[in-house]
Amino acid sequence: MKCLVTGGAGFIGSNLVDKLVAKKNKVIVFDDLSTGSASNLKKVRKKITFIKHDISKGVDKFERYFRNADWIFHLAGKVDIVPSITNPIQYFNSNVQGTLNILEIARKKHLKKFQRGVYFKKNIGKKVGEKINFKNVSFHFPLAKGQLAANDYSVFSDFKTKKTINKGNKLLIKDVKINNLRGKTIEIRNKVRDLATRANIVTPKYSRIEISHHYGLEKFFKYGLCMIVIINQSYCKKYLFLFKNQIHPSQLHKQKQETFLILFGTVQLDISFNNKRKKKIMKPGEIFTIKPGMIHKFKALSSAGAVIEEISTESIPTDSYYLDKNITKILNRKSYISFR
Ligand SMILES: NC(=O)c1ccc[n+]([C@@H]2O[C@H](COP(=O)([O-])OP(=O)(O)OC[C@H]3O[C@@H](n4cnc5c(N)ncnc54)[C@H](O)[C@@H]3O)[C@@H](O)[C@H]2O)c1
Repeated sequence: MKCLVTGGAGFIGSNLVDKLVAKKNKVIVFDDLSTGSASNLKKVRKKITFIKHDISKGVDKFERYFRNADWIFHLAGKVDIVPSITNPIQYFNSNVQGTLNILEIARKKHLKKFQRGVYFKKNIGKKVGEKINFKNVSFHFPLAKGQLAANDYSVFSDFKTKKTINKGNKLLIKDVKINNLRGKTIEIRNKVRDLATRANIVTPKYSRIEISHHYGLEKFFKYGLCMIVIINQSYCKKYLFLFKNQIHPSQLHKQKQETFLILFGTVQLDISFNNKRKKKIMKPGEIFTIKPGMIHKFKALSSAGAVIEEISTESIPTDSYYLDKNITKILNRKSYISFR
């Protein structure tokens, strides 16, 4: 186990460190040697990591040592009573501020004891490789050995079962295939920012990007779309961002009427309505209104991508009907990330 001992060069701390090392734990000692002595750790010095540091000055720069620690033994402190009367500020800083600094990093930097484990709310994984949805899991203390922690259950990751797991059971790391998609989401955000700059568009201060990945984030650059909603009331305005050759699959709206104004790049719009098909190649300044019931599919033709301003009646999430029913079956087909 990974154990941190503050005040590890003191009387109690050094005895504890000896015992922890003897039990084959990975030990990291924080001590400013103000009253303790490095000689107390002589026997184990080569087997531990020793950091000479005053914990009242903050420990954030040592964050990596705290990450995923199993235990923190907090024993650093000024213990003599008489000097505490003559020097209360020094005592306050070491004992109160120092303790708060340790508690705060334990809370923020994932001390395992402060983490909840992931449990199943229903039987899952009848088919190997079944995707684990957020609504099928819950988080509870304590975190068991080998169990996936709530902190690691990121919405930017994709979790698939390797076997059947029953309701109420722990999600063990060995039973799940984790595909971390955070990097991909950030890559997409960077490209949207770049496209917005090239297209010279202004977005509201706290905009967020809605990433539609109709066939999964892995296939996003082939099938997908990014969107920033400016306003959605009885009237609606959005910016749609498409990358080169990226296709937004065929869909129709039964209620919404929308007008596309091309702001940047070249867009191919395929329309099908009353059994008539129309293909339009649209350039900046061109405009087209898609009426309810019109099947439409679009893609960016220009190498730098394209930006479309969409002005419409209210946009209702349940009002998008895809021709490929497989798309509707994918529950997690959207991810969100802040634009700035
Ligand atoms: N020794 C006992 O009988 C006893 C009994 C009950 C409780 N305690 C408590 O256990 C803890 C440890 O006691 P101890 O007897 O080992 O004391 P100690 O003085 O031997 O050890 C304290 C260690 O903390 C280090 N330290 C002090 N301020 C620090 C700071 N700001 N940053 C980093 N390191 C710092 C010192 O250098 C020292 O090595 C104290 O909180 C004490 O009150 C001790």
